[in-house]
Amino acid sequence: MLPPPLLLLVLFPSHSFALSRPRWIPLRRADASIPKEGYINPVAAGKSMLTRIPWETYPAGQGEPLNMIVSGNSDADVLVDQEDGGLQTYFTSLNFSGECLNQQMGNPMQADLADGDGLKNQTAVIRYNYGDPALGTCKESIQGGNHFRYWLQDGPTGNTGAVFLATSYEKPLVENHDIVLNGYNLGRDYIVGNISGTVIPTLNLTTASTYEGSSSYKGYTYHTKVTYVAGMLSNSSIGVNHNESVRIDGVVNAVDGLVAVLDVQIVERPEKSDDGAISITLDWTMWTIMTTIVGAFTLL
Ligand SMILES: *[C@@H]1O[C@H](CO)[C@@H](O)[C@H](O)[C@H]1NC(C)=O
Ligand SMILES: *[C@@H]1O[C@H](CO)[C@@H](O)[C@H](O)[C@H]1NC(C)=O
Ligand SMILES: *[C@@H]1O[C@H](CO)[C@@H](O)[C@H](O)[C@H]1NC(C)=O
Ligand SMILES: *[C@@H]1O[C@H](CO)[C@@H](O)[C@H](O)[C@H]1NC(C)=O
Ligand SMILES: *[C@@H]1O[C@H](CO)[C@@H](O)[C@H](O)[C@H]1NC(C)=O
Ligand SMILES: *[C@@H]1O[C@H](CO)[C@@H](O)[C@H](O)[C@H]1NC(C)=O
Repeated sequence: MLPPPLLLLVLFPSHSFALSRPRWIPLRRADASIPKEGYINPVAAGKSMLTRIPWETYPAGQGEPLNMIVSGNSDADVLVDQEDGGLQTYFTSLNFSGECLNQQMGNPMQADLADGDGLKNQTAVIRYNYGDPALGTCKESIQGGNHFRYWLQDGPTGNTGAVFLATSYEKPLVENHDIVLNGYNLGRDYIVGNISGTVIPTLNLTTASTYEGSSSYKGYTYHTKVTYVAGMLSNSSIGVNHNESVRIDGVVNAVDGLVAVLDVQIVERPEKSDDGAISITLDWTMWTIMTTIVGAFTLL
């Protein structure tokens, strides 16, 4: 005699089993009072869109531009700093991932996002992985390429959920990881270019420039709309790290003054049933195996 659950398996070979699992609750949900742009402009609150570099002593006070923002209007799941479809999965969908073999390379930069936390360390450094999430960032660390540091605007007085990125394209390790010519503006625009599949005309961008595109990883597909916004960063080289070597004299400042604001929505998720449970469908192969096992037991 079969125990009742096994009997069910035999009677309904293609049944979908729902394994319930806790609902996804974001760790820190954004305030109801998020400005309509989806972030608080630190400059309007008397702070800076340049990072602070604690280890730079000369010239003191030079920083790197926060030139990209994942807006707090994005899908709430994208704004959670984790895998499983969250921010880290989104970054990997753009071919960016964490440090080579989990090494913490170098010291953290700091930023004050006017969210009540004051100056805080970067959350992490994320590097272009050349299409290889496991080891590609090791290649980036050695031969250079695109990378960014990021901070969450999630402090007690300004929890918008927005994510601020300082992107730049760096030289190889042997050249001390300096930034390439026009490397802040290009680092930002290569990411937008990868999202949209278009070469971004960095020297001709205006605030009217918008781009969009999709990217996927582990069954999640993200649709990103990008708008270039002026008025937060100064169109200037003053106070910018490596400003003498990064600007193109007479052509473009080290920082062109534009911030790429990303609105990211999840348009596809790994297969799940409506109540958030994971479905496992027993196919015919599995059914055959199960019935053979059950059959063997009933013969014993
Ligand atoms: C920021 O990073 C510095 C250098 O690694 C570390 O000494 C400090 O404790 C960090 N601050 C916080 C609040 O984690
Ligand atoms: C990521 O890399 C893969 C493999 O090189 C490529 O097919 C894909 O288009 C890249 N995606 C983005 C968003 O750049
Ligand atoms: C995609 O990113 C890579 C690495 O940063 C860059 O070399 C390439 O030019 C980018 N593609 C576009 C279309 O911007
Ligand atoms: C930028 O604009 C100039 C003049 O309008 C044009 O000659 C040039 O081809 C443009 N560059 C790009 C990359 O679109
Ligand atoms: C930045 O300023 C320069 C002049 O210094 C100007 O040619 C350029 O168009 C400005 N860029 C933007 C994006 O406004
Ligand atoms: C770089 O920034 C410093 C201030 O930190 C400023 O004194 C210097 O003039 C800037 N250089 C250029 C080329 O803008």
